[in-house]
Amino acid sequence: MRLLLLLSVLGVCWAQYNPHTVPGRTSIVHLFEWRWDDIALECERYLAPNGFGGVQISPPNENVVINNPSRPWWERYQPVSYKICTRSGNEDEFRDMVTRCNNVGVRIYVDAVVNHMCGNGVSSGTSSTCGSYFNPGLRDFPDVPYSAWDFNDGKCKSYSGDVENYNDIYQVRDCRLVGLLDLALEKDYVRSKIAEYMNHLIDIGVAGFRIDASKHMWPGDMKAFLDKLKNLNTSWFPEGARPFIYQEVIDLGGEAIKSSDYFGNGRVTEFKYGAKLGTVLRKWSGEKMAYLKNWGEGWAFMPSNRALVFVDNHDNQRGHGAGGSSILTFWDPRLYKMGVGFMLAHPYGFTRVMSSFRWPRYFVNGKDINDWVGPPNENGVIKRVTVNPDTTCGNDWVCEHRWRQIRNMVIFRNVVDGQPFTNWWDNGNNQVAFGRGNRGFIVFNNDDWELSVTLQTGLPAGTYCDVISGDKIDNQCTGIKIYVSGDGRAYFNIKNTAEDPFIAIHMDSKLHIKLDK
Ligand SMILES: *[C@@H]1O[C@H](CO)[C@@H](O)[C@H](O)[C@H]1NC(C)=O
Repeated sequence: MRLLLLLSVLGVCWAQYNPHTVPGRTSIVHLFEWRWDDIALECERYLAPNGFGGVQISPPNENVVINNPSRPWWERYQPVSYKICTRSGNEDEFRDMVTRCNNVGVRIYVDAVVNHMCGNGVSSGTSSTCGSYFNPGLRDFPDVPYSAWDFNDGKCKSYSGDVENYNDIYQVRDCRLVGLLDLALEKDYVRSKIAEYMNHLIDIGVAGFRIDASKHMWPGDMKAFLDKLKNLNTSWFPEGARPFIYQEVIDLGGEAIKSSDYFGNGRVTEFKYGAKLGTVLRKWSGEKMAYLKNWGEGWAFMPSNRALVFVDNHDNQRGHGAGGSSILTFWDPRLYKMGVGFMLAHPYGFTRVMSSFRWPRYFVNGKDINDWVGPPNENGVIKRVTVNPDTTCGNDWVCEHRWRQIRNMVIFRNVVDGQPFTNWWDNGNNQVAFGRGNRGFIVFNNDDWELSVTLQTGLPAGTYCDVISGDKIDNQCTGIKIYVSGDGRAYFNIKNTAEDPFIAIHMDSKLHIKLDK
């Protein structure tokens, strides 16, 4: 009774802005192009033990098989049907993943591609991941089924039928995004088919959705299909829990469509976050870390409780979708670790960590001509994520989420959850530090000289293990030790040549004094 009353009082907390991670887990990871059986294993062997809240998965519904170029990653953004059947696995494997991950408290978030079907120019036939027939020329997708009435061809007013002018909101929403057949979301039939697909996934046990290409849908049309969604499966979620919704809207400013147009439906991806953080850490455009003091809304970002934030995503890490050259990725590991470390320490937004595969990046005139290359595979079959003795991944899976510095900052964020942003310090340049209440403290040196300073950490007295240079194992520290005195102050020294020029300590990295006899 008491619990029910509490739940209804807190009603808003169960709305579409809540990721429904288990208490104390505060970040998700995008396991881009992983197989479902590997994700199930990763939930059990790594993500749950290290406090990850959930996984964003690649689109699970049937897509076009593209052979020229050979099986690009972007073929998964060209749906053919809503069958759960892709290179990542079939429906049985999908169910097994969702069940096993939920059972260890790791949630699954589906990348939902519902703005469009496949490209206008794709040949008809059965070249699809489950062998379903489709005919793009006739707008015929019999397995859904969708036919010519279910697309926006009559509504689009651009010359080519594609989006040509991003300042014309009608074109952006009613025309084809790079030739992809644009669904008529004003039709109740189309809304119902999309809701049916998403409800199928909700029944299986997913916790929510990243909604691809949201900018290319009218917010009101999205609301109409989102209103048709069921509550989450009560095997794992509280009664009345709504699916978590985060919408992919690329708004770097200066366009007619704004992120705020979508706040009513759920959270929105904050693309300014990674673009600006990359610019600051690269020290471009006169930026310096000292300016991060008012990071967040102070930088004209959306409200924190509407933001889904990330340093890079699967598009902009390879120059697609707002992929300016400032974006930090695993290709620049030293700055990347600092960027992800800063994001995970800072209270702004709900955080998503990227986990990538390596591809043969090759620049010609400033453009990566291999930006299309799909996941590691053998004759088209996605390769397993193998794990090396040192816990890193093999088979060209980068597994940034397993890098010590990143994994330990995911834990840092959990430890400081709910604590205020405190004890900011900077040297007016690129040496900065801040705390999270009395639970954690982080110091960065991105200047070209040594950092040597005593700072107020806000932490209780004691010896702490820096979780960037090492780990606390059996009450011993394999990295740098930091001594916090009774007044909360501690001395920090970070050489600009350090492998990772930042230090992070938190309550769970405190070493306990052993009373040896
Ligand atoms: C919720 O999940 C359980 C466990 O997989 C399943 O048995 C049940 O049918 C699901 N509920 C719905 C409404 O599908």
